[in-house]
Amino acid sequence: MRSRDVNRKSGSYRARRILLSSILLVYIAIICKYFGADRTLDITSFLQTFNYEEFVHPNGMSINDMNVDSTFLTMYGQHRVKPALEQVPKWLSQYVTWSQQQRANENEQTKYLVLPCIGNDICEGFSDRLRALPFYILLASKVNRVLCIYWTKPYPLESFLQPPKGGLDWRCPASFDSLIDKSLKSSDQKNLHHFILFGDNRSKKDADGKNANVKQIFQGITNAKDKYVSVTTKTHSVQSIVHLNSIFDAYSYRKFMPLEGNWYHVGMMEHIFRIMFEPIDPIARTINATMTELGLNEKKFTSVHVRARYPSMQTIRFAGGKRNAINFDEGRSTVAFDGRYKDFIVKVATNAVDCGFQLEETDKIFFSSDLVNLTQFMLSNPVRIKNGQRNVQPVGIAKREDIKHAVSNSGSVEDFYPMVEDLLIMGASKCVSLGIGSYGAFAAGIAGNRCKALHRKYNGAPIDCPNDRGVMRKLVIDKNLLVFGDPDNDDEKIDVDEKSLLWDT
Ligand SMILES: *[C@@H]1O[C@H](CO)[C@@H](O)[C@H](O)[C@H]1NC(C)=O
Ligand SMILES: *[C@@H]1O[C@H](CO)[C@@H](O)[C@H](O)[C@H]1NC(C)=O
Ligand SMILES: *[C@@H]1O[C@H](CO)[C@@H](O)[C@H](O)[C@H]1NC(C)=O
Repeated sequence: MRSRDVNRKSGSYRARRILLSSILLVYIAIICKYFGADRTLDITSFLQTFNYEEFVHPNGMSINDMNVDSTFLTMYGQHRVKPALEQVPKWLSQYVTWSQQQRANENEQTKYLVLPCIGNDICEGFSDRLRALPFYILLASKVNRVLCIYWTKPYPLESFLQPPKGGLDWRCPASFDSLIDKSLKSSDQKNLHHFILFGDNRSKKDADGKNANVKQIFQGITNAKDKYVSVTTKTHSVQSIVHLNSIFDAYSYRKFMPLEGNWYHVGMMEHIFRIMFEPIDPIARTINATMTELGLNEKKFTSVHVRARYPSMQTIRFAGGKRNAINFDEGRSTVAFDGRYKDFIVKVATNAVDCGFQLEETDKIFFSSDLVNLTQFMLSNPVRIKNGQRNVQPVGIAKREDIKHAVSNSGSVEDFYPMVEDLLIMGASKCVSLGIGSYGAFAAGIAGNRCKALHRKYNGAPIDCPNDRGVMRKLVIDKNLLVFGDPDNDDEKIDVDEKSLLWDT
């Protein structure tokens, strides 16, 4: 008995060794075949000979069969990467593969396009920083560079999010870290060629000027020999971001594309996000615990977001001036949660819940705001839906400090976790009711943009639902947006998702 057992064990051991060595050989063969001889192939020529399945899954395993993350979230993680890759235009999934290969064979020739937030750079909030990401992926693919994100403030993005296995790794190599003087802004770095989009007056004026400027920057980066170059827009103005994302759309959709607007991330953000990001383990654990405790399941609840500290017209008035309002927003001072400010912001929040309820009649409403006093108030008082038919009781996280703004330059790294937790919980919802500020729009984007309502006007005043502010319109693609030349092939683009475009009442 025993000797047969041993034999069987050593037999299967041998079989496994043979299997492993043959997998290794196939792997090495692939690497030699595609990358050994010609490491500097550009994306197009590289992909002509490249088999994605063969490279990413050399042993026949699908992403689904690979190790499972230690903390499981239904809505983010490596199991969501492959389905997401299948939903994006081909140039994008091909770029992911190309970038994986470049990283696997990192050498002196490997070149990077860095998205920086360093020193005194004006980076704005978490959402604004990542809103033009789709455009930068396109740009990186056109200049044959690996995209990487480098933040020094408030903390590196790696302190909150990580790339899932099989996805697009966006972390900058350690050699970049040692090149940078963290006290200086990007444009003042001595060892870095930094490009600024829309930096001159002419390019700011109109679409033609912007397109000409993007072409110019594209040429500049194409000609740059440096291992690292970085790029940002002069300001994170809505006009700049919307224009860049329109260029992304023009290369991604067939015939029609969505009209990008103030409060949107691109229609494909749900997929791009899942290809690039999952929360780091401690954040994933808190998200899972919160959702379990509140009984929230992916796509089975509605999120309602209210930016209470946004320096809108009314908040400036209640805070006693613009400077005070900005200090309030960035966490340096407070406005007492009482009197007219409380009346106002509770009215905004009540309308926000009403808008969310109209999207989907559900008892599960996750309420999130950047003011814990408001969140506590909304979680402990039933909200009367305007038509008077019923009260709803939102759920949410009451026991914590105010959510910190990414522009805040004080606090421990953990102090910023709630900013990511609420965003990612909202990103798991079916519908999102959002107001002003880009953060709520990011949540709606991660959730898929298919079901959303806008509950405030641009000036911060509440607006009844239904309204047409959440309606996205479709446009015929403007050929002038094709600043990098003709797209390869219309077949490789995708169609606009009609459901994400129109919110019919
Ligand atoms: C939380 O983790 C458990 C156990 O892994 C899992 O069954 C559940 O689906 C997770 N919840 C969410 C929202 O991902
Ligand atoms: C840009 O505008 C500023 C202020 O209006 C002006 O002083 C500057 O000369 C302009 N620069 C160019 C290149 O036109
Ligand atoms: C606001 O919340 C803080 C923290 O929970 C609490 O100490 C404070 O009393 C609250 N203020 C008001 C006016 O409710």
